[in-house]
Amino acid sequence: MKTAVITGGNKGLGLAQTQKFLAEGYRVYVVARTEADVSALGDEVHFVRHDLSDWRDVGFLETIHKEAGNLDVLVNNAGVHLKKPIWDVAPDELDHVLNLNVKALFLSCGRYVDLQRDKGGAIVNISSMGGLMALPSAAAYVTAKTSVIGVTRSVAVDAAPFGIRCNAVCPGFIETDMTRAILAKDPARRDKIEGRIPSHAFGTPGDVADAVHYLASPQAGYVNGVALPVDGGYSIGF
Ligand SMILES: NC(=O)c1ccc[n+]([C@@H]2O[C@H](COP(=O)([O-])OP(=O)(O)OC[C@H]3O[C@@H](n4cnc5c(N)ncnc54)[C@H](OP(=O)(O)O)[C@@H]3O)[C@@H](O)[C@H]2O)c1
Repeated sequence: MKTAVITGGNKGLGLAQTQKFLAEGYRVYVVARTEADVSALGDEVHFVRHDLSDWRDVGFLETIHKEAGNLDVLVNNAGVHLKKPIWDVAPDELDHVLNLNVKALFLSCGRYVDLQRDKGGAIVNISSMGGLMALPSAAAYVTAKTSVIGVTRSVAVDAAPFGIRCNAVCPGFIETDMTRAILAKDPARRDKIEGRIPSHAFGTPGDVADAVHYLASPQAGYVNGVALPVDGGYSIGF
Protein backbone atom coordinates (compact mmCIF):
# COMPACT_ATOMS: atom_id res chain seq x y z
CA MET A 1 0.00 0.00 0.00
CA LYS A 2 1.31 3.45 -0.91
CA THR A 3 1.67 6.13 1.74
CA ALA A 4 0.90 9.84 1.50
CA VAL A 5 1.65 12.52 4.08
CA ILE A 6 -0.71 15.50 3.84
CA THR A 7 -0.14 18.54 6.03
CA GLY A 8 -3.39 20.23 6.97
CA GLY A 9 -5.23 17.18 5.64
CA ASN A 10 -7.92 17.49 8.31
CA LYS A 11 -9.87 20.51 7.02
CA GLY A 12 -10.82 22.45 3.92
CA LEU A 13 -8.91 21.63 0.75
CA GLY A 14 -6.62 19.26 2.64
CA LEU A 15 -9.53 17.12 3.83
CA ALA A 16 -10.64 16.61 0.21
CA GLN A 17 -7.06 15.56 -0.61
CA THR A 18 -7.06 13.06 2.25
CA GLN A 19 -10.36 11.64 0.98
CA LYS A 20 -9.02 11.43 -2.59
CA PHE A 21 -5.82 9.61 -1.64
CA LEU A 22 -7.76 7.22 0.63
CA ALA A 23 -10.17 6.50 -2.23
CA GLU A 24 -7.16 5.78 -4.46
CA GLY A 25 -5.93 3.16 -1.98
CA TYR A 26 -3.29 5.11 -0.07
CA ARG A 27 -2.58 5.05 3.63
CA VAL A 28 -2.65 8.73 4.64
CA TYR A 29 -0.81 10.48 7.47
CA VAL A 30 -2.48 13.80 8.28
CA VAL A 31 -0.25 16.35 10.02
CA ALA A 32 -2.05 19.24 11.75
CA ARG A 33 -2.86 20.73 15.15
CA THR A 34 -6.44 19.46 15.59
CA GLU A 35 -7.64 15.94 14.93
CA ALA A 36 -11.14 17.07 13.86
CA ASP A 37 -12.93 14.35 11.89
CA VAL A 38 -10.07 12.42 10.33
CA SER A 39 -10.47 9.30 12.50
CA ALA A 40 -13.97 8.91 11.05
CA LEU A 41 -12.36 8.41 7.63
CA GLY A 42 -11.33 4.84 8.40
CA ASP A 43 -8.36 2.72 9.46
CA GLU A 44 -5.95 3.89 6.78
CA VAL A 45 -5.80 7.45 8.06
CA HIS A 46 -3.35 8.33 10.82
CA PHE A 47 -3.27 11.65 12.63
CA VAL A 48 0.04 13.25 13.64
CA ARG A 49 -0.33 16.28 15.87
CA HIS A 50 2.23 18.93 15.03
CA ASP A 51 2.35 22.72 14.92
CA LEU A 52 4.13 23.64 11.71
CA SER A 53 4.66 27.20 12.98
CA ASP A 54 7.50 25.50 14.80
CA TRP A 55 9.07 25.42 11.34
CA ARG A 56 12.56 24.25 12.33
CA ASP A 57 11.13 20.94 13.56
CA VAL A 58 10.41 18.56 10.69
CA GLY A 59 11.08 15.48 12.84
CA PHE A 60 7.47 14.41 12.20
CA LEU A 61 8.54 13.23 8.74
CA GLU A 62 11.24 11.02 10.21
CA THR A 63 8.76 9.53 12.71
CA ILE A 64 6.24 8.77 9.96
CA HIS A 65 8.99 7.39 7.70
CA LYS A 66 10.11 5.02 10.47
CA GLU A 67 6.56 3.77 10.95
CA ALA A 68 5.53 3.54 7.29
CA GLY A 69 8.88 2.52 5.79
CA ASN A 70 8.34 4.50 2.61
CA LEU A 71 6.72 7.86 1.94
CA ASP A 72 5.49 7.75 -1.66
CA VAL A 73 3.94 11.22 -1.55
CA LEU A 74 4.28 14.40 0.50
CA VAL A 75 1.62 17.09 0.07
CA ASN A 76 2.56 20.39 1.72
CA ASN A 77 -0.96 21.79 1.96
CA ALA A 78 -1.13 23.52 5.37
CA GLY A 79 -1.16 27.27 4.99
CA VAL A 80 -2.49 30.50 6.38
CA HIS A 81 -3.92 33.57 4.66
CA LEU A 82 -3.54 37.18 5.73
CA LYS A 83 -5.89 39.77 4.26
CA LYS A 84 -4.00 43.03 4.75
CA PRO A 85 -2.26 45.60 2.56
CA ILE A 86 1.52 45.68 2.95
CA TRP A 87 1.56 48.81 5.13
CA ASP A 88 -0.62 47.15 7.77
CA VAL A 89 1.37 43.92 8.07
CA ALA A 90 3.12 43.72 11.45
CA PRO A 91 6.49 41.94 11.72
CA ASP A 92 4.99 39.09 13.77
CA GLU A 93 2.23 38.61 11.21
CA LEU A 94 4.78 38.45 8.41
CA ASP A 95 6.80 35.91 10.40
CA HIS A 96 3.72 33.76 10.94
CA VAL A 97 2.73 33.72 7.26
CA LEU A 98 6.28 33.00 6.05
CA ASN A 99 7.08 30.49 8.80
CA LEU A 100 4.10 28.27 8.00
CA ASN A 101 3.63 28.81 4.26
CA VAL A 102 7.28 28.88 3.24
CA LYS A 103 9.84 27.87 5.86
CA ALA A 104 8.04 24.77 7.17
CA LEU A 105 7.34 23.72 3.57
CA PHE A 106 10.96 24.38 2.54
CA LEU A 107 12.46 22.27 5.32
CA SER A 108 9.82 19.54 4.86
CA CYS A 109 10.78 19.26 1.19
CA GLY A 110 14.45 18.97 2.13
CA ARG A 111 13.85 16.34 4.81
CA TYR A 112 11.55 14.35 2.49
CA VAL A 113 14.18 14.25 -0.27
CA ASP A 114 16.79 13.13 2.22
CA LEU A 115 14.55 10.33 3.54
CA GLN A 116 13.45 9.18 0.07
CA ARG A 117 16.66 9.63 -1.91
CA ASP A 118 17.03 5.86 -2.45
CA LYS A 119 13.35 5.19 -3.14
CA GLY A 120 12.05 8.10 -5.20
CA GLY A 121 8.77 9.83 -4.60
CA ALA A 122 6.67 12.89 -5.31
CA ILE A 123 6.04 16.19 -3.58
CA VAL A 124 3.07 18.43 -4.28
CA ASN A 125 3.17 21.91 -2.77
CA ILE A 126 -0.01 23.95 -2.48
CA SER A 127 0.65 27.45 -3.72
CA SER A 128 -2.19 29.70 -4.90
CA MET A 129 -3.27 31.87 -7.76
CA GLY A 130 -1.61 34.44 -5.49
CA GLY A 131 1.68 32.74 -6.39
CA LEU A 132 1.14 33.59 -10.05
CA MET A 133 -0.39 37.04 -9.83
CA ALA A 134 -0.88 39.80 -7.29
CA LEU A 135 -4.08 39.72 -5.25
CA PRO A 136 -5.30 42.89 -3.52
CA SER A 137 -4.53 43.35 0.17
CA ALA A 138 -2.61 40.10 0.45
CA ALA A 139 1.06 41.13 0.22
CA ALA A 140 2.40 38.65 2.79
CA TYR A 141 0.35 35.79 1.35
CA VAL A 142 1.34 36.61 -2.24
CA THR A 143 5.00 36.81 -1.18
CA ALA A 144 4.71 33.43 0.53
CA LYS A 145 2.84 31.66 -2.28
CA THR A 146 5.24 33.04 -4.91
CA SER A 147 8.10 31.63 -2.82
CA VAL A 148 6.38 28.24 -2.75
CA ILE A 149 6.78 28.11 -6.53
CA GLY A 150 10.48 28.96 -6.19
CA VAL A 151 10.98 26.19 -3.64
CA THR A 152 9.09 23.79 -5.91
CA ARG A 153 11.30 24.51 -8.92
CA SER A 154 14.48 24.22 -6.84
CA VAL A 155 13.45 20.87 -5.39
CA ALA A 156 12.40 19.67 -8.86
CA VAL A 157 15.90 20.33 -10.17
CA ASP A 158 17.86 19.08 -7.16
CA ALA A 159 15.81 15.96 -6.42
CA ALA A 160 15.31 14.73 -10.01
CA PRO A 161 18.47 12.55 -9.86
CA PHE A 162 16.84 10.65 -6.96
CA GLY A 163 13.64 9.94 -8.91
CA ILE A 164 11.74 12.50 -6.86
CA ARG A 165 9.45 14.97 -8.63
CA CYS A 166 8.15 18.19 -7.12
CA ASN A 167 5.21 20.20 -8.48
CA ALA A 168 2.88 22.90 -7.21
CA VAL A 169 -0.86 23.40 -7.49
CA CYS A 170 -2.22 26.95 -7.58
CA PRO A 171 -5.89 26.91 -6.58
CA GLY A 172 -8.03 29.87 -7.61
CA PHE A 173 -11.39 30.68 -6.06
CA ILE A 174 -12.59 27.49 -4.42
CA GLU A 175 -15.94 26.99 -2.72
CA THR A 176 -15.18 26.21 0.94
CA ASP A 177 -16.91 27.07 4.21
CA MET A 178 -14.49 29.95 4.58
CA THR A 179 -15.05 31.48 1.11
CA ARG A 180 -18.80 30.93 1.45
CA ALA A 181 -18.86 32.76 4.79
CA ILE A 182 -16.73 35.67 3.55
CA LEU A 183 -18.60 36.14 0.28
CA ALA A 184 -22.06 35.74 1.85
CA LYS A 185 -21.34 39.11 3.46
CA ASP A 186 -20.31 40.61 0.13
CA PRO A 187 -22.49 39.21 -2.71
CA ALA A 188 -21.30 41.95 -5.10
CA ARG A 189 -17.74 40.68 -4.71
CA ARG A 190 -18.84 37.12 -5.47
CA ASP A 191 -20.58 38.34 -8.64
CA LYS A 192 -17.46 40.25 -9.68
CA ILE A 193 -15.20 37.23 -9.15
CA GLU A 194 -17.57 34.86 -10.95
CA GLY A 195 -17.75 37.34 -13.81
CA ARG A 196 -13.98 37.08 -14.26
CA ILE A 197 -13.83 33.27 -14.21
CA PRO A 198 -14.29 32.02 -17.79
CA SER A 199 -16.66 29.26 -16.60
CA HIS A 200 -18.36 31.74 -14.20
CA ALA A 201 -18.12 29.15 -11.40
CA PHE A 202 -16.00 28.62 -8.32
CA GLY A 203 -13.95 25.42 -8.12
CA THR A 204 -14.51 22.67 -5.57
CA PRO A 205 -12.07 21.15 -3.07
CA GLY A 206 -12.42 17.97 -5.16
CA ASP A 207 -11.09 19.79 -8.26
CA VAL A 208 -7.94 20.68 -6.32
CA ALA A 209 -7.61 17.18 -4.83
CA ASP A 210 -7.84 15.62 -8.32
CA ALA A 211 -4.98 17.84 -9.55
CA VAL A 212 -2.86 17.06 -6.48
CA HIS A 213 -3.43 13.33 -6.94
CA TYR A 214 -2.59 13.52 -10.65
CA LEU A 215 0.70 15.34 -10.03
CA ALA A 216 1.65 12.81 -7.35
CA SER A 217 0.79 9.83 -9.57
CA PRO A 218 2.89 7.89 -12.10
CA GLN A 219 0.62 9.39 -14.81
CA ALA A 220 2.53 12.62 -14.20
CA GLY A 221 5.87 10.79 -14.27
CA TYR A 222 7.38 13.28 -16.76
CA VAL A 223 5.85 16.37 -15.15
CA ASN A 224 8.31 18.14 -12.89
CA GLY A 225 8.59 21.65 -11.48
CA VAL A 226 5.27 22.98 -12.77
CA ALA A 227 2.94 25.39 -10.99
CA LEU A 228 -0.45 24.17 -12.18
CA PRO A 229 -3.30 26.67 -11.92
CA VAL A 230 -6.60 25.07 -10.84
CA ASP A 231 -8.63 28.22 -11.25
CA GLY A 232 -11.08 27.71 -14.09
CA GLY A 233 -8.89 29.97 -16.23
CA TYR A 234 -9.02 33.01 -13.91
CA SER A 235 -5.27 33.67 -14.11
CA ILE A 236 -5.08 33.73 -17.92
CA GLY A 237 -7.06 36.99 -17.94
CA PHE A 238 -10.56 37.21 -19.35
N1 LIG B 1 -9.41 27.84 0.03
C1 LIG B 1 -8.99 28.41 -1.08
O1 LIG B 1 -9.80 28.93 -1.86
C2 LIG B 1 -7.51 28.41 -1.42
C3 LIG B 1 -7.09 29.03 -2.60
C4 LIG B 1 -5.74 29.02 -2.91
C5 LIG B 1 -4.83 28.37 -2.10
N2 LIG B 1 -5.27 27.78 -0.97
C6 LIG B 1 -4.26 27.10 -0.14
O2 LIG B 1 -4.69 25.79 0.11
C7 LIG B 1 -4.22 25.34 1.38
C8 LIG B 1 -5.40 24.89 2.22
O3 LIG B 1 -6.29 26.00 2.34
P1 LIG B 1 -7.73 25.88 3.04
O4 LIG B 1 -8.57 26.94 2.46
O5 LIG B 1 -8.19 24.48 3.03
O6 LIG B 1 -7.34 26.36 4.51
P2 LIG B 1 -8.01 26.00 5.91
O7 LIG B 1 -9.38 25.48 5.75
O8 LIG B 1 -7.77 27.20 6.76
O9 LIG B 1 -7.08 24.82 6.42
C9 LIG B 1 -5.74 25.06 6.74
C10 LIG B 1 -5.13 23.73 7.14
O10 LIG B 1 -3.80 23.95 7.58
C11 LIG B 1 -3.67 23.44 8.91
N3 LIG B 1 -2.80 24.34 9.66
C12 LIG B 1 -2.95 25.68 9.82
N4 LIG B 1 -2.00 26.15 10.62
C13 LIG B 1 -1.23 25.08 10.99
C14 LIG B 1 -0.11 24.92 11.83
N5 LIG B 1 0.45 25.96 12.48
N6 LIG B 1 0.43 23.68 11.99
C15 LIG B 1 -0.13 22.63 11.37
N7 LIG B 1 -1.20 22.71 10.56
C16 LIG B 1 -1.74 23.93 10.39
C17 LIG B 1 -5.07 23.45 9.50
O11 LIG B 1 -5.24 22.45 10.49
P3 LIG B 1 -5.22 22.83 12.08
O12 LIG B 1 -5.89 24.14 12.22
O13 LIG B 1 -5.92 21.68 12.74
O14 LIG B 1 -3.77 22.87 12.45
C18 LIG B 1 -5.89 23.09 8.26
O15 LIG B 1 -5.93 21.72 8.07
C19 LIG B 1 -3.46 26.52 1.97
O16 LIG B 1 -2.09 26.39 1.70
C20 LIG B 1 -4.04 27.72 1.22
O17 LIG B 1 -3.17 28.81 1.20
C21 LIG B 1 -6.59 27.79 -0.60
